[in-house]
Amino acid sequence: MLANRFFKPVFCFFVGGLCMRILEKAIKEKGEVLSSEILKVGSFLNNQIDVKLLNKIGKEFYKHFGEKKVTKILTVESSGIALAVVAAQYFDCDVVFAKKSKSNNLKGELYQANCFSFTHGNMNILIIPKEYINSKDRILVIDDFLAHGEAVRACMQIVKQAGAEVVGVGIAIEKGFQHGGDELRAEGVDLYSAAIVDKMSEKRITFRKDED
Ligand code: G4P
Repeated sequence: MLANRFFKPVFCFFVGGLCMRILEKAIKEKGEVLSSEILKVGSFLNNQIDVKLLNKIGKEFYKHFGEKKVTKILTVESSGIALAVVAAQYFDCDVVFAKKSKSNNLKGELYQANCFSFTHGNMNILIIPKEYINSKDRILVIDDFLAHGEAVRACMQIVKQAGAEVVGVGIAIEKGFQHGGDELRAEGVDLYSAAIVDKMSEKRITFRKDED
């Protein structure tokens, strides 16, 4: 028991948790807490992209979901795309991203799902042409942030419309205090987040630790 308490955190740090520590370090060093709910990570995830960091997160997703026979990665424009594309190279599959507005080149039959954003206080409609997901697909949903889980749920709804299967959800930064992630886990979704912020203030960001 004592040995487990000592060795497990050390083992996690060197094997599974290494990326988690790297992302936590980037959040601590470069993230900015804008309010009790909003974390700004524009310098490495949302405006400027730290490709090496994203590559490590992608590799971590592959460690977790590599056995799941993923045929496609699904994300939402815009900030999810970079992470999804980097991760897709490990899974050797294509990326489909949902658009949040209709445009002239979105033709033919479409999958659509409503997605309310608590962060922005607005309703988006996620749209994907039907030709890009079919009933044989095994989908990994990837996104940069997970707050209340609305975007992930909208993606899951679209996959259901296609008769395909969501085999997992990979997130860079989960805001644990907004509980979307815990609700999805409680429903049996295989959700892996590279970093989980459990509390934040201007002075301190607290991450969820590996469970004993
Ligand atoms: P939810 O899907 O989990 O319920 O989250 P929510 O609707 O609240 O988030 C909507 C948008 O806000 C998403 O981006 C998400 O990435 C972003 N977001 C949520 N919380 C934070 C945060 O603390 N910091 C930052 N930087 N972004 C956050 P989006 O509207 O789809 O825009 P885009 O950036 O992907 O274009």
